Amino acid sequence: APTRHEAETSPAVCVGTVDSNWAGFSGSGFCNGANSTSGYVQFTVTAANAGTATLGVRFANGTTTARPAGLVVNGATVQTVSFEGTGTWDAWTTKTLTVNVNAGSNTIRLSPTTATGLANVDYLEFEVGGTPPPTTAL
Ligand code: GCU
Ligand code: CA
Repeated sequence: APTRHEAETSPAVCVGTVDSNWAGFSGSGFCNGANSTSGYVQFTVTAANAGTATLGVRFANGTTTARPAGLVVNGATVQTVSFEGTGTWDAWTTKTLTVNVNAGSNTIRLSPTTATGLANVDYLEFEVGGTPPPTTAL
C-alpha cells in the first residue's frame, strides 16, 4: 500500500502557505504554493529498495489554465507535469506518475515552471515496487 505524505507535515516543505480554506483536503490543510516559479512543494520519502516507484499527487487548480511543474527527484528534473484546471479550488484530483528512486531517503519536488506557480497540493502518495523473492530451485 502507498504511504501518504501530507504537504503540511514536516519533513515536507511548502514554499507558500499551508491553507485550509478549500474543502476536501486530507490532513489539516494543503500547500498553496507562492504564485511564482520559486513556490515549490517538496516531499521526503523512504524507499525500501531502489527501483520504480508510483507517485499519486492530489491537487486542485481552480483556474482554466494548467499549472505545469517540473517533477524533481533528488535534484534532477525527470519530467514536466501539467496539473490541469480541475474546475474549482475545492475539486481535488489525483495524478499518478512513475519515477525511479534510490534505496533509502529520496526528495520529490514539484517546481512550477510558470509565474502562476503550483496548483494547490494536498499530498503525495508513494509506493516503491517490491523486489520479488528469488525463485527457489526444486
Ligand atoms: C486563490 C485560491 C488559492 C490559490 C490561488 C492561486 O487565491 O484561494 O487557494 O492557491 O488562488 O491562484 O494560486
Ligand atoms: Ca497559489
